[in-house]
Amino acid sequence: MGWVLLVVAFAVLVLIGYWQLVVAEGTYLGTRVVTLLYDLAAHRYDRLKGFDGADEAWFLGRPLADSLRCSDHPRVLDVATGTGRLPRALLSQPEFDGQVWGLDLSGRMLSVAKQNLAPHPECVGLLLAGATPLPFADEQFEAVTCLEALEFFAEAAPALNEMLRVLQPGGWLLMSNRIGWEARLMPGHTWSRAELISILRGLPLTDISVRPWQTYYDLVWARKRITKT
Ligand SMILES: C[S@@+](CC[C@H](N)C(=O)[O-])C[C@H]1O[C@@H](n2cnc3c(N)ncnc32)[C@H](O)[C@@H]1O
Repeated sequence: MGWVLLVVAFAVLVLIGYWQLVVAEGTYLGTRVVTLLYDLAAHRYDRLKGFDGADEAWFLGRPLADSLRCSDHPRVLDVATGTGRLPRALLSQPEFDGQVWGLDLSGRMLSVAKQNLAPHPECVGLLLAGATPLPFADEQFEAVTCLEALEFFAEAAPALNEMLRVLQPGGWLLMSNRIGWEARLMPGHTWSRAELISILRGLPLTDISVRPWQTYYDLVWARKRITKT
C-alpha cells in the first residue's frame, strides 16, 4: 500500500511540474522563472517553433507592412520579441522602410535575435527590458506588436495598457491571444475569445479583428482611436 501512495504522489508531482514548467512556462512562479526558462531554451527556440518564412510573411510581415504603408519611416515596437520573429517577418518586406525595436526580459533570447537580425543592423534596436512599464514616452510608435507572450506576463491588462500608451493615435496593435485546451490550464492569465473582444471594446480601439491563426493562438488586430479635440 505504501509504495502505491508513493507512486501516486510521484505521478502528481510530475504532473504539477509539467503543468507549471512546460504548459505554463513558469508563469505562476514569477517573472524570474519565466525569464530563466527562456534563457535556457533560447538556443533551441527557433528549431522548436519551426517558423515557416512564407507563413510568417503572409500572416505577419505583409499585412503589417501594408498597414504602415502611409507612414514615412514608421517605428514599430515588438514587446517580448524573443528571437526577433516579428522584426524578421517585417524586415523581409521590401516596402517596409522603418525601424523596429524588440524588447524582451531574456538576454539569451535577445542574443539569438541579434544574430537573426544581423542583416538589418541599421533598422533594429534590441532592449533588455520588461513589458511593464515600457521604457518609452507616450505615443512613440506607429505599431506595437506582442506575439505569444501576453499570457506569460505577471499581469496582462497593465501590459496591454502600456502598449496602448506608447502607440500613436491611429497606430496598429497586433497581438496574439492564447486559446485552445492549454489556455484553460492557465487560469487568470488567458482570456477566451469573447472575453478578449469585450476587453478590447472597453479600450480606445477601433477596427478590432480577432481571427484564428495558429492551433493555440488567435491573431488580434486593432487600431488606436484618434480622439478629436
Ligand atoms: C513564447 S516567447 C514569444 C517570442 C516572440 N514574440 C515570438 O512570437 O516568437 C515569449 C517571450 O516573452 C518574453 N517575456 C516573458 N515575460 C516578459 C516580460 N514581462 N517582459 C518582456 N518579455 C517577457 C520571454 O522572455 C520570451 O522571449
